[in-house]
Amino acid sequence: MKSSNVPCVIVLTSSLILILVVIIYCKISSVTNDELLAVSLIFRHGDRIPNQLYPQDPYNNESLWGGDPGELTNIGKRQHFELGKWLRKRYNGFLSLLYDKNEIYVISSDVDRCLMSAATNLAGLYEPIAQDIWKPELNWQPIPIHTIPMQEDGIFQSIMECPGYNKHWQKQLRTNATKKFNEDHAKFYEYLSYNSGLNITGFVDIINLYDSLQIEEMYNMTLPEWTRMVYPEKLREVFIYSVNFQTATPEMVRISLGRFYDNVLEQFKVFVEEKTNASKYTKFRMFSGHDYNIFGILKTLGISDSSEIPYGATIIFELKRSATGEIFVHTLYKTNELKVLQIDGCDVNCDYKTFVEKLGKMILSEEEYRYICEI
Ligand SMILES: *[C@@H]1O[C@H](CO)[C@@H](O)[C@H](O)[C@H]1NC(C)=O
Ligand SMILES: *[C@@H]1O[C@H](CO)[C@@H](O)[C@H](O)[C@H]1NC(C)=O
Ligand SMILES: *[C@@H]1O[C@H](CO)[C@@H](O)[C@H](O)[C@H]1NC(C)=O
Ligand SMILES: *[C@@H]1O[C@H](CO)[C@@H](O)[C@H](O)[C@H]1NC(C)=O
Ligand SMILES: *[C@@H]1O[C@H](CO)[C@@H](O)[C@H](O)[C@H]1NC(C)=O
Repeated sequence: MKSSNVPCVIVLTSSLILILVVIIYCKISSVTNDELLAVSLIFRHGDRIPNQLYPQDPYNNESLWGGDPGELTNIGKRQHFELGKWLRKRYNGFLSLLYDKNEIYVISSDVDRCLMSAATNLAGLYEPIAQDIWKPELNWQPIPIHTIPMQEDGIFQSIMECPGYNKHWQKQLRTNATKKFNEDHAKFYEYLSYNSGLNITGFVDIINLYDSLQIEEMYNMTLPEWTRMVYPEKLREVFIYSVNFQTATPEMVRISLGRFYDNVLEQFKVFVEEKTNASKYTKFRMFSGHDYNIFGILKTLGISDSSEIPYGATIIFELKRSATGEIFVHTLYKTNELKVLQIDGCDVNCDYKTFVEKLGKMILSEEEYRYICEI
């Protein structure tokens, strides 16, 4: 924090003990002097069963997986339960221990693993106490999770469900650079097709294959001999190309994010302007989505080197007011570790006006979204 650094420097000439005391004081004060106004966060669902096993996969047998393709596993449930507990620790006090509908709003992609991730996350965040205990032997209480049909959610499914996005996609597929990439990899696709039983003619076709191999490796399943030549390096390279392709142009980035930033900035605006009676915008908002949602948002923040988004990865935007009245946004990225994100062209604490200027360009209003997506 800039303001609290000043007294720290002045006492450098004093005794070591005093320095330590002041540094500790500065650390604490930097935490307590900033008032948290609002939080918006988005996470990826937890561990899941592969979306689509390839025809010649030795593990292509649903009974091995204990569920249907794409479903959240017990490991995934535990991941989100733990994340919910972590959120409780971080935001305890900001969020009451008793569930209060005016404080938190949860919205999920209408895909089972996302809905279930949100549910287990909330089980960790809101373990019932006092009057919220409704069945003593059950350490759980229901917390509402909102969702919107995929075709019109405008936040989570634009890449899949927006015809306007698809037009940009098709156009990008016809560029010389894209054609050249596929031509350069034709032999590679042939090798993959022959061994997997899939019909792989372009980089898009390898996404589920790479995903399945990655999950099987994580589950300690021995991968077939043929994968040695191509997994992980060569397949990862093409996978990363595929993921980046989804946001190949600024317009594709904007449509793929859909109405996410519109939601965040509208919420923050309410708290900056202290319209506390705007019940539509609770101070804490949680979005439960997919890896490509997280990837697209990281890209808009100027962070494009993390194509592989781990389960439960979370981007957190914290709207804060400093003791001197400055309003800023603190952005965090939580995977196994917690990283502060420095938005491209912004301080670690991004001045609110700068934040709005930078990300305002990404806003799609509901009308614009409907127009572009032809829904
Ligand atoms: C799938 O696994 C089950 C249990 O191991 C087995 O009974 C069944 O025959 C397998 N199905 C196929 C298609 O291999
Ligand atoms: C794409 O390649 C074709 C055929 O080689 C060429 O005629 C065309 O000018 C190229 N387009 C661009 C934009 O480079
Ligand atoms: C593989 O896919 C391509 C492109 O979609 C198609 O033209 C071709 O007929 C398919 N081949 C087989 C064997 O299904
Ligand atoms: C895979 O093996 C490692 C090392 O033995 C273990 O820690 C891990 O839990 C295993 N993963 C699964 C999904 O069983
Ligand atoms: C807050 O409530 C007042 C009085 O009911 C109303 O006039 C005003 O529009 C509300 N503000 C917002 C942002 O909803």
